[in-house]
Amino acid sequence: MLSLKGAWSAEMPLVQDQLHRIEEDAARDLAATADEAALEGWRVAYLGRRGRLTQVLRGLSALVEEERRNLGAAANQLKQRLEDAHEAHHSALGDAALRTTMREGRLDVTLPGVRGPIGRLHPITQTLRDILGAFASMGFQVTEGPEIEWDRYNFEMLRIPADHPARDLWDTLWMDYERDGVRPMLLRTHTSPNQIRVMESQEPPVRVVVPGKCYRYEATDATHEWMFHQVEGLAVDENISIGDLKGTLYEFTKRMFGSERRVRFRTDYFPFVEPGVEMAMDCFNCRGGGCRTCGNQGWIEILGAGMVHPEVLTGVGYDAERYTGFAFGMGVERIAMLRYGIEDIRHFFANDLRFLRQF
Ligand code: PHE
Repeated sequence: MLSLKGAWSAEMPLVQDQLHRIEEDAARDLAATADEAALEGWRVAYLGRRGRLTQVLRGLSALVEEERRNLGAAANQLKQRLEDAHEAHHSALGDAALRTTMREGRLDVTLPGVRGPIGRLHPITQTLRDILGAFASMGFQVTEGPEIEWDRYNFEMLRIPADHPARDLWDTLWMDYERDGVRPMLLRTHTSPNQIRVMESQEPPVRVVVPGKCYRYEATDATHEWMFHQVEGLAVDENISIGDLKGTLYEFTKRMFGSERRVRFRTDYFPFVEPGVEMAMDCFNCRGGGCRTCGNQGWIEILGAGMVHPEVLTGVGYDAERYTGFAFGMGVERIAMLRYGIEDIRHFFANDLRFLRQF
């Protein structure tokens, strides 16, 4: 195609004609575009890299400069108009879609939301918190100690030397670690080693409760687990008597099981207390008449206690002439079973949600 600079060319009306037809077709096609997919097809057909307008723009390079300038300007203006039309149609489609959604009610803001699952505290945790809360309100502090313990703390300093028959009271899980031919570490069988730990770390007056997991090498049944929780209590000061022990534990019992509860103390044996006692309360279910809860006894044993043995006090460097104290230990699972009426201790750590969701 021969065209001279500045001269009139036969191409010119042809291109103008093309632009004109493109604009007409584009307007008609766009009006028929009803969704985003069709709109994108339209854009590709007219403005895409192989679209009709783009092809015209590319063909312009073959023209002489003056024609190129004039037609180029016209083509670019058309391109701008088509882009504007595309943009306007795009937002119109969005508005229409929103109106449809609202009309058809697909988004009902009055529907209730989806409720997320809400967790809860394990019944043992709840019971533990109530026990500690009762003692905290009587001035006891709460501390903790390790679950892996030395024989020295778990037994020896509690007046239970190696080979002492009293060790049979606590079937022990020993750590697989030997020193000088003996195993000095174990999983604590009770929370009583914390009596020693607390007294070693502070001078009287002492008033502490110590919660924690305990372990025993035992077959499990409805009332025994190889892992369970205890709360230890210890009070040491001048002039502490067994009356303080009884008063404190009586008050605790009323707070946990009702103000009408009565308590009973009987002698019992633990090497680290003298005298040692077991405390029972009258059955909150039958009030002493005898029923299933109390095994027809009328009384329910809930803890062991006693006056701290003077040798235990001297063992930690306390002056046993000046100070006396009482200690107690209770099983948390046992107390939880009583207050919730649970028949089998194995429910607690079986992780059956049907059980746990009841608390
Ligand atoms: N530690 C004892 C046990 O596990 C309970 C106890 C604690 C008894 C403190 C007396 C004083 O059986």
